[in-house]
Amino acid sequence: MDSPDRFSTPANGTVFCSFIREMSDAQKYVYKSVKIHFSDLAEVPWFPKKISDLDKSACRVLMYGSDLDADHPGFKDNIYRKRRKYFADLAMSYKHGEPIPRVAFTEEEVKTWGVVSRELNKLYPTHACREFLNNLPLLTQYCGYREDNIPQLEDVSNFLRERTGFTIRPVAGYLSPRDFLAGLAFRVFHCTQYVRHSSDPLYTPEPDTCHELLGHVPLLAEPSFSQFSQELGLASLGASDDAVQKLATCYFFTVEFGLCKQEGSLRAYGAGLLSSISELKHSLSGSAKILPFEPNVTCKQECLITTFQDVYFVSESFEEAKFRMREFAKTVQRPFSLRYNPYTQSVCVLKDMPSVTDVVEELRHELDIVGDALCRLSAHLGV
Ligand SMILES: [Fe+2]
Repeated sequence: MDSPDRFSTPANGTVFCSFIREMSDAQKYVYKSVKIHFSDLAEVPWFPKKISDLDKSACRVLMYGSDLDADHPGFKDNIYRKRRKYFADLAMSYKHGEPIPRVAFTEEEVKTWGVVSRELNKLYPTHACREFLNNLPLLTQYCGYREDNIPQLEDVSNFLRERTGFTIRPVAGYLSPRDFLAGLAFRVFHCTQYVRHSSDPLYTPEPDTCHELLGHVPLLAEPSFSQFSQELGLASLGASDDAVQKLATCYFFTVEFGLCKQEGSLRAYGAGLLSSISELKHSLSGSAKILPFEPNVTCKQECLITTFQDVYFVSESFEEAKFRMREFAKTVQRPFSLRYNPYTQSVCVLKDMPSVTDVVEELRHELDIVGDALCRLSAHLGV
């Protein structure tokens, strides 16, 4: 489209397109955000460039893989530990593109799941956000969400793919924030497949499949929430450790413990709340401290794992949360911009003008489609 001789090089070492002056306001907005620094890309932490690269990071489990801590409810239960080893092996040997192995859950596991889902289902109508409540019946219909049946991750993954393009990838335990957020960039949600220990169905010190299926999945079936999740993930790719920590904290207080306002009252959309009876009640009891979600503030809040959160953050809507995260993501220091290519399920690193030009061409084509649609609509309406 435009040759490199149309670029100017200011003294600060940053290159801008000289033809910005010739563009429309919308195009200027796009181009002004594309600022290319010639710093050493070798300094950038490794990150997956395509969806199959997640095979390299999904096995880097930090804790609760096949080994349990001494204070874990299942630590002294050898049968449970053997079962956990089975799930860990399934997840560790999984490769991108394979179907997720179907599991024959034991009677005890189904009973545990039944207790958790029955108790939570009592609270959802008065505590869960609208989007969650809309999607839950679909999961019953298409994925076998029932109190006497633990849904299979493969069925859930196929359902989500059709709804929002998200897919599930089995994982053995906790990943680092960097590796977990990287999955979101590709609309991949790392999901545990084991069930918590049966001794206390309403408590788990770690995410288990009840938490994933009941807390996360209904929202991952929502387009605006999925977009929000992916943008968080994209912002983390190649970011510094400090920036990833801030993004992970924002993730924690939104995707895990977020609240939103709907029809004048507070509702939960965070999976940590929607899978915990006691904390779900507490967060909406009126006695919990609530602050507006503001990434610059939220990213400094301490994340509590074994107790209720000191504070919960509320957004007006997913759109508002997305807008705020988008602004925050622009402050993440990276020597390049990234764009996700849904056709190849890969990220395009916009580090030079040809790659930026490719994006502009795609945007022009999209705008052509919009223009054509508006013309046809106008003609149809006789305007
Ligand atoms: Fe979670």
